[in-house]
Amino acid sequence: DFWAVIPAGGAGTRLWPLSRESCPKFLLDLSLRGRSLIQATWDRLLPLATPARMMVVTGVLHNDSVRDQLPDILPGNLLAEPSPKESGAAIGLAAAVLSRRNPYAILGSFAADHMISGADAFLSAVAEAVVTARHNHLVTIGIAPSTPATGFGYIRLGESLEIPDAPNARLVSQFKEKPDAKTAASYLSTGDYRWNGGMFVVKAQFLMDLLKTYQPELADGLERIAAAWDDDTLREKALLEIWPTLPKIAIDHAVAEPAALEGKVAVIPATFGWDDVGDFTSLSELIPAEINQPRVLGDSGLVVTEQTAGGIIVPASGRLVACLGVDDLVIVDTNDALLVTTRARSQEVKKLVAKCREAG
Ligand code: GDD
Ligand code: MG
Repeated sequence: DFWAVIPAGGAGTRLWPLSRESCPKFLLDLSLRGRSLIQATWDRLLPLATPARMMVVTGVLHNDSVRDQLPDILPGNLLAEPSPKESGAAIGLAAAVLSRRNPYAILGSFAADHMISGADAFLSAVAEAVVTARHNHLVTIGIAPSTPATGFGYIRLGESLEIPDAPNARLVSQFKEKPDAKTAASYLSTGDYRWNGGMFVVKAQFLMDLLKTYQPELADGLERIAAAWDDDTLREKALLEIWPTLPKIAIDHAVAEPAALEGKVAVIPATFGWDDVGDFTSLSELIPAEINQPRVLGDSGLVVTEQTAGGIIVPASGRLVACLGVDDLVIVDTNDALLVTTRARSQEVKKLVAKCREAG
């Protein structure tokens, strides 16, 4: 009884001004192959779940865009939250609703805004995760780390679980969400850690049990909302009254960290390509490079350069972008905002966006 759940939220600040609060990263077609990230996520999951078993949890603000982009989603499987409460509440809501529909339901939560390559390896990793989840584990997917990045969760590989149909399943001996740079570097040097891929496979009921243990207030609120879910009037009332009171916390902090300490978290090490496209530098790396040229996302006919190498140019306004003698810049030109920074500092765009908001 596998259900694919796609939590789709977030403020869309790291790829600003391409992504916006009104149009976060998951709605964008960053690969320029005609499918947005959430559409690509949906496509990737179709071999595992029919549309009847696919659920998206998103904010009221993005409900219509999601429905437009995913016309096959069933209305009852598109859960709209009144305000962002982070992934704990989003994934928790899906678990609360599903565990009532089917006490044996297994939920696989997949981030809406990642790029994944190697479909077969992805599907076989998820298949192992589902088998492992039946043994009452919260199952994660571990990505081989390439840098001491601070924007990810780190998973320490423990002993093999010796599950026949999941030969790669290991116990997680530690889960640390977003360590500081020094800690991340020390983890990397041991070779024992994987990045958390932002995917969780778990029995819906078991996730509710974990929430009850570690986040009782969140679990209680979610259960009261789920109990009202199938009645339009009661659901609206419950969302209005209870949702604002829910704690705002990521699933990683809420559940994965404490549950790992008690041997309840497992990991399947991934062998597929994975990228969370967290900033313009990682976005640029997805575009084929030409020697001594910046990478262009969009219509390269709109970009004219002379002695300009490296970096990325996004001519999204339709205007011509011309550069002379500037290397490794990030230039993102949209109709109402222009971003100019360097490759090296593209991770800091988030801070700049906060400042732009202050400035109105
Ligand atoms: N519906 C809804 N509402 N979804 C949300 C919300 C929310 O308020 N907040 C986050 N999400 C969704 C995101 O859209 C994404 O699909 C998923 O939950 C994870 O949230 P992110 O905000 O993207 O988390 P992160 O990138 O900082 O960290 C997570 O992903 C990393 C991998 O990219 C963690 O799981 C890390 O441990 C992991 O390494
Ligand atoms: Mg993310």
